[in-house]
Amino acid sequence: MVPIAAAELDSDNIDVESEKISVTFVDKNGEEMNIKVPVGMSMLEAAHENDIDLEGACEGSLACSTCHVIVMDMSQYNKLEDPTDEENDMLDLAFGLTETSRLGCQIIAKPELDGLRLAIPAATRNFAVDGYKPKPH
Ligand code: FES
Repeated sequence: MVPIAAAELDSDNIDVESEKISVTFVDKNGEEMNIKVPVGMSMLEAAHENDIDLEGACEGSLACSTCHVIVMDMSQYNKLEDPTDEENDMLDLAFGLTETSRLGCQIIAKPELDGLRLAIPAATRNFAVDGYKPKPH
């Protein structure tokens, strides 16, 4: 038996959960972390709230490139708003830039992005990473 989808419930009765999207971060070791991100929140904030190791030295003011993430799926990349000139300038400085690179602080959760997968690049240009503890092998 197929259960009745929650989405079919009266739209006056919107479930708070539906205002969150599922996002998976893949860290430099290939470990996946799946989190729920409220619509309207940036990926940088979401990462920080969930103890995901994404930097973000300038706290989202487009003055660094340490929040660089790689959108793993081109079709999802295409759903994002186009980067501003400021973002592109910062991305040019990012280490390991790819075709689907974005700044995490500029990706804002929206319903179409449900299921987004973001890779955290292996290195950033900040050499002294505060609090970085190498994992034992
Ligand atoms: Fe600095 Fe995103 S946190 S540009």
